[in-house]
Amino acid sequence: MPAKTFQDHLKILKTHEARLADKHMRAMYEADSDRFLKYSLCLDTLVFDYSKNRIDQDAMNALLDMAANLGVEQKRGAMFAGEKINRSERRAALHVALRGSVDKAVNVDGLLISDAVEQVLQQMRDFSDAVRSGGYQVTGGKVTDVVNIGIGGSHAGPAMACEALGKFRDGPKVHFVSNVDSADLLTTLSGLKPETTLFVIASKSFATAETMMNANFAREWVEATVAKDQIGDHFVALSSNLEATGAFGIADERCFAFWDWVGGRYSIWSAIGLSLMIAIGSRNFDAMLEGAASVDRHFCDAPLDKNIPVIMAVLGIWYRNAWGCSAHAVLPYDHRMDGFRTWLQQLDMESNGKSVDLDGSIIEYSTAPVIFGEPGTDGQHAFYQLLHQGTDFIPCDFLLASGANDDLDKHRSTLAANCFAQSEALMRGKSKEEVVSELISAGMDEKKACELAPHKVFEGNRPSNTFVYEELNPRTLGMLMALYEHKAFVQGVIWNVNSFDQWGVELGKELADKIEPVLVIGDTTAANNSSTEGLLRAYLNFRKN
Ligand code: F6P
Repeated sequence: MPAKTFQDHLKILKTHEARLADKHMRAMYEADSDRFLKYSLCLDTLVFDYSKNRIDQDAMNALLDMAANLGVEQKRGAMFAGEKINRSERRAALHVALRGSVDKAVNVDGLLISDAVEQVLQQMRDFSDAVRSGGYQVTGGKVTDVVNIGIGGSHAGPAMACEALGKFRDGPKVHFVSNVDSADLLTTLSGLKPETTLFVIASKSFATAETMMNANFAREWVEATVAKDQIGDHFVALSSNLEATGAFGIADERCFAFWDWVGGRYSIWSAIGLSLMIAIGSRNFDAMLEGAASVDRHFCDAPLDKNIPVIMAVLGIWYRNAWGCSAHAVLPYDHRMDGFRTWLQQLDMESNGKSVDLDGSIIEYSTAPVIFGEPGTDGQHAFYQLLHQGTDFIPCDFLLASGANDDLDKHRSTLAANCFAQSEALMRGKSKEEVVSELISAGMDEKKACELAPHKVFEGNRPSNTFVYEELNPRTLGMLMALYEHKAFVQGVIWNVNSFDQWGVELGKELADKIEPVLVIGDTTAANNSSTEGLLRAYLNFRKN
């Protein structure tokens, strides 16, 4: 019998969807007091509750069969063994090696991965310790400010982690500049002194237009104040293109290398983490690596039905493909996790926002959903109305730390109560009978209560996962990030797409390169369609004024 394809599995999933479509989760909880125990897992100091999903054991079995049949375990083995699973770029995807999770014998084109990783990691530790202690000096003495210039994977992870781990930052101030909008760079530089500022130019390719433009400006900014022979001390590079870093004028000893088998969006664990390491110290950075490594071990060792990233992945596919959900909300009840959705957007949408399979054939099912979110409780006052009463249901992930010693107690309880309340409200809803009876008890007459009731009804039955963990610290953050990385990997395997390339970002770059000279010479007729031409004309007219 030929092996089952994703579409064969999808047909099976749809029969379960049809079976469960009219079942309300409220009734499922009423019928089974062990539902939480059945559908939750613990990993170190983290609890993952997936019981508030529209699933029963038969549906879960079908989802996990799909993961097993479509080769999740084999492909996981291939990734950890350093096989070139990124086929369109002929590269391995070995970010897991950056946290010590591959066998010491794994090599790529003859390079022993573990040795190379340890060498750069030690170089990073030495340098960040020196910057933090003042052992590394720039023109004005000790470095007071570090400016990380990078974009995409060379920005989003470190910027997010720096904010999330704000409590652990005890080094020089670390700033992040990514946007080619000069407001980003100028705002950051406005409070800084060139003599005590260190620029970390983070770019795997060292060719990304936005980063190079900002880096060139930064160099001019330093050159205006600092003596020529000291300018070099103000720059370090994080890159896999050591020729280009040399051409930019950064000495080899201040270049921190990584390799083509580290994808941009998976690169925070590599030299790209240097600015973060300077901010939080090498021991905290190591703790983050160790958190991610513990998830790698769990991902490799746990059976599929106890494997958190596998369960996250198949539930995502359940809603995306069997129920037709096109969005997924990530809702950290943690103000410092504001950047998490941005990091996750790149991870998930750049990895799996694909419409051809590994062989280049067009696929006939949906892949990555739109990821969006906002820290609670702010999100509650923005888009939760739609989550609760909109026409489509959107699966959500709630993330909550039990707290930290320096939290205000009352704030902490209110925050946590809101998090638990939201997932319960989404799940339970409120029926028309409940609404009417409440209104009448509050003194409203029955006619008015019945008129108002439809507006106050919550159909509920809206699914969510919840992560609760002890504290948002480097280790937990590393765990959370690795869980989502492996989730994306598993989904890519099941959808049969290449999660490690990103050709979809190229066309926009190509056209920007063509449009920019048009803007400079002001000849809008060079645009190749009336919309772009009209917009260019309007823009140039405004500029003239
Ligand atoms: O957005 C496209 C992309 O290639 C990302 O994958 C990458 O993280 C980012 O640009 C930055 O690339 P680089 O690190 O080479 O500057």
